[in-house]
Amino acid sequence: MAAMSPSLLFVFSLLLLLIKSYANSTETSFLECFLNTTRSDSRIAIAEIIYAPNTTSYNTIFLSSIQNIRFLLSGNTTKPSFVVLPVEAAHVQAAVVCGRRHGLRLRVRSGGHDYEGLSYVSAGGPFVILDISQLRSISFPDDGNMAWVGAGAIVGEVYYNVGLKNATAGFPAGICTTIGVGGHFSGGGIGSLQRKYGSSADNIVDALIVNADGEILDKKSMGEDLFWAIRGGGAASFGVVLYYKIKLVYVPPQVTVFTISRTLKQNATKLLEKWQYVAPELVNDLWIRTIVLAINEASGDRTIQVLFQGMFLGGRDDLLPLVHKSFPELDLKAEDCSEMRWVESTLYIAFSDIKNLTMLLDRRPQYNSSFKAKSDFVRNPISEEGWEEIWKFMTEAKDEPLTVIMEPWGGRISEITDTAIAFPHRKGNLYNIQYFMRWSETEEAVTEKHLNWMRTMYEFMAPYVSSNPRAAYVNYKDIDLGSSTEEGKTSYTEASAWGSKYFLNNYKRLAKVKAEVDPEGYFWNEQGIPPFSS
Ligand SMILES: Cc1cc2nc3c(=O)[nH]c(=O)nc-3n(C[C@H](O)[C@H](O)[C@H](O)COP(=O)(O)OP(=O)(O)OC[C@H]3O[C@@H](n4cnc5c(N)ncnc54)[C@H](O)[C@@H]3O)c2cc1C
Ligand SMILES: *[C@@H]1O[C@H](CO)[C@@H](O)[C@H](O)[C@H]1NC(C)=O
Ligand SMILES: *[C@@H]1O[C@H](CO)[C@@H](O)[C@H](O)[C@H]1NC(C)=O
Ligand SMILES: *[C@@H]1O[C@H](CO)[C@@H](O)[C@H](O)[C@H]1NC(C)=O
Ligand SMILES: *[C@@H]1O[C@H](CO)[C@@H](O)[C@H](O)[C@H]1NC(C)=O
Ligand SMILES: *[C@@H]1O[C@H](CO)[C@@H](O)[C@H](O)[C@H]1NC(C)=O
Ligand SMILES: *[C@@H]1O[C@H](CO)[C@@H](O)[C@H](O)[C@H]1NC(C)=O
Ligand SMILES: *[C@@H]1O[C@H](CO)[C@@H](O)[C@H](O)[C@H]1NC(C)=O
Ligand SMILES: *[C@@H]1O[C@H](CO)[C@@H](O)[C@H](O)[C@H]1NC(C)=O
Repeated sequence: MAAMSPSLLFVFSLLLLLIKSYANSTETSFLECFLNTTRSDSRIAIAEIIYAPNTTSYNTIFLSSIQNIRFLLSGNTTKPSFVVLPVEAAHVQAAVVCGRRHGLRLRVRSGGHDYEGLSYVSAGGPFVILDISQLRSISFPDDGNMAWVGAGAIVGEVYYNVGLKNATAGFPAGICTTIGVGGHFSGGGIGSLQRKYGSSADNIVDALIVNADGEILDKKSMGEDLFWAIRGGGAASFGVVLYYKIKLVYVPPQVTVFTISRTLKQNATKLLEKWQYVAPELVNDLWIRTIVLAINEASGDRTIQVLFQGMFLGGRDDLLPLVHKSFPELDLKAEDCSEMRWVESTLYIAFSDIKNLTMLLDRRPQYNSSFKAKSDFVRNPISEEGWEEIWKFMTEAKDEPLTVIMEPWGGRISEITDTAIAFPHRKGNLYNIQYFMRWSETEEAVTEKHLNWMRTMYEFMAPYVSSNPRAAYVNYKDIDLGSSTEEGKTSYTEASAWGSKYFLNNYKRLAKVKAEVDPEGYFWNEQGIPPFSS
């Protein structure tokens, strides 16, 4: 072990003194252990890796990627004992080893987009945030069209770097550019290339993960089961993903995008009804999603607007005849369409603006508000009458800022078998629904009202969507499906309340993998996967 420089030693002692002045012995032991384990590395000031409370940097780092401020508002949110900001794998290993040894759990955070805040708040006891946003390098090895992507990268960085490297390469992942690779890829990852190439998880070829024993494993050493699990099962229950190796996909030099908006008076309902049949059956090169907005008119009445947003892997001249043939009612015109590079299309879909590609690199939260979401899968088209009932329900609630986003299935994402990887939502689905609501009021009563209305909406939708189990997408995490607050003690049966909805028939195998790799359940969270026990 290399000797510590005197100045570093001084920082250590100072930090320990500071911590000891308020921390109890669990926290002190964790810190001592962490410093002991990592102190051979004198290149990096420890004060830039581990942040203790009551310092300005602690708060800045804590808040840096929080997307949903709902969890910061209630008085009883426990703040983390420390925020650890590893700059190399050894820091992650030390956090796991020391956390486990001294009984302090970790919340791993990559992009901070978790819908229920599970990467930065906890209903359990004291915890440490392991924020891996510094582990975000993206490199292109020589073995063909691959990239190693740090789990702390955001998908915008992936798009930007891939697009810069090779104008005809892309990667299938989500719409919002600030979502983190660690959470997003491990839970699936759906977006405008899902019909052509499947989910992000479908295009992962290797991974580096730190397991509950603090070892770094790759695809070979982690074994088939764990590698299967961290492609769709979410990684939070299994370890800390450091890197994913991804297979880049071919995109043409120019793609075409469009957004068509229709009101109820412009036959939006009929169009949407037809979309359900058309969108999943289109050529795989064409993805058309729909976004339903409830908007307030000047009269004070509420009405519905439907957006049809498309991305086509080809030029406008090839797109127009395709749409005229299969979806003539959409009445797509040349002037509705814009041709651009694929990397620009990621900006267009996220921001409706393609001026500045460096926006893809901006990690800062854009809203700093509260939100709540839920998800469904639809296997049978909803009738026009059904939609009219839904509009009625949505427009009667005047203060509920609901957006409904529907992502078309069919194509590659439906062809892959439901057991190939842990991501289970395949053949038979027409589309996914996301119910999403954002608000800026901070009063608890307002929050409660919105949350309750979302629950009512979810109940209302039951007859129209999948059932037994009612499937849900784990990246659109919904704590209402069930949760456990008894730290480390969730049972297999208890967790099937959410596990069977998120993972369908893959839930049991996931729980068996958990029993293999983390039998003591160190990597616990309120909606995690517990070890299988019959
Ligand atoms: C505005 C918005 C838009 C979105 N759009 C899409 C979309 O188009 N398509 C889509 O599929 N999803 C979308 N999502 C959902 C997104 O995929 C999930 O929220 C995803 O889990 C976010 O990953 P993250 O790393 O940013 O989140 P985090 O909050 O950092 O993590 C999410 C979960 O993964 C765990 N985790 C994170 N990193 C690691 C790691 N390295 N190792 C182990 N566990 C880890 C966390 O502990 C937590 O449980 C969107 C979310 C938001 C807020
Ligand atoms: C430290 O404090 C937490 C509560 O903040 C408590 O759960 C834990 O048991 C304490 N540990 C010790 C050793 O006192
Ligand atoms: C850290 O190292 C010191 C000196 O080697 C040792 O006395 C102490 O017990 C260690 N602490 C922990 C928590 O491992
Ligand atoms: C942080 O500071 C506040 C007020 O300055 C104090 O009440 C609180 O006890 C401190 N907390 C810790 C953990 O030191
Ligand atoms: C505080 O936590 C308890 C237990 O988790 C929960 O029931 C309660 O609703 C929380 N209060 C607020 C204001 O969030
Ligand atoms: C660019 O990426 C595509 C898709 O992976 C691949 O087919 C092509 O060969 C790559 N071109 C170069 C110059 O690397
Ligand atoms: C709506 O549908 C009717 C009848 O099918 C048609 O005449 C009308 O042009 C359509 N309106 C729009 C805006 O497409
Ligand atoms: C692009 O945006 C970045 C920040 O997002 C800014 O620093 C830069 O100046 C912008 N470039 C142009 C040409 O507008
Ligand atoms: C939201 O908060 C973060 C962290 O505090 C900050 O960096 C960011 O600029 C804020 N964004 C807006 C739009 O205010």
